[in-house]
Amino acid sequence: MPEKPLKPTERATQVPLGADATLGFIGHVETPWKTRADCPKQGRLDGPDCAVVLRSPWDGALQGIERFEMLELYLWFHLARRDLLVIDPSHGGGPRGVFALRSPVRPNPVALSTVRLVAVQGARLIVRGLEAVDGTPLLDIKPGRCPHTPG
Ligand SMILES: C[S@@+](CC[C@H](N)C(=O)[O-])C[C@H]1O[C@@H](n2cnc3c(N)ncnc32)[C@H](O)[C@@H]1O
Repeated sequence: MPEKPLKPTERATQVPLGADATLGFIGHVETPWKTRADCPKQGRLDGPDCAVVLRSPWDGALQGIERFEMLELYLWFHLARRDLLVIDPSHGGGPRGVFALRSPVRPNPVALSTVRLVAVQGARLIVRGLEAVDGTPLLDIKPGRCPHTPG
């Protein structure tokens, strides 16, 4: 999809990214949203069930995850442009540097979503609270900070 033309208040750069880090996707998410425009701006814990699908061998790293009600998902927003310095968000507030925004547009488009774990079904985690396009790659999962305390 072609990028939107920049507003006069926005600024881009030549991307000087090198091979500073090598990341490997550990899976992807399945959501009801097929385009960026369809997604909510931020996920809601009462939103629809979505799936986090782990690819082998990382599905072997889920042991104990059911003890956590909340998870942090680190996603790679693969459809985001990476060359902007200043954005003028459509929700207002005036032009701002990308590091002063939670926009998906950033040099390394890592998004953090805090989700509620609904069920563990083998290599699939059913969660609520996502706001990502269907098929968005997954970088990492961390347990939220409030584990269920058994018994
Ligand atoms: C504002 S970001 C917030 C993401 C995350 N909660 C955060 O704060 O880091 C959410 C928006 O990113 C866009 N988006 C979702 N999936 C994307 C993807 N795979 N690539 C690029 N943009 C995406 C959608 O427009 C969605 O509304």
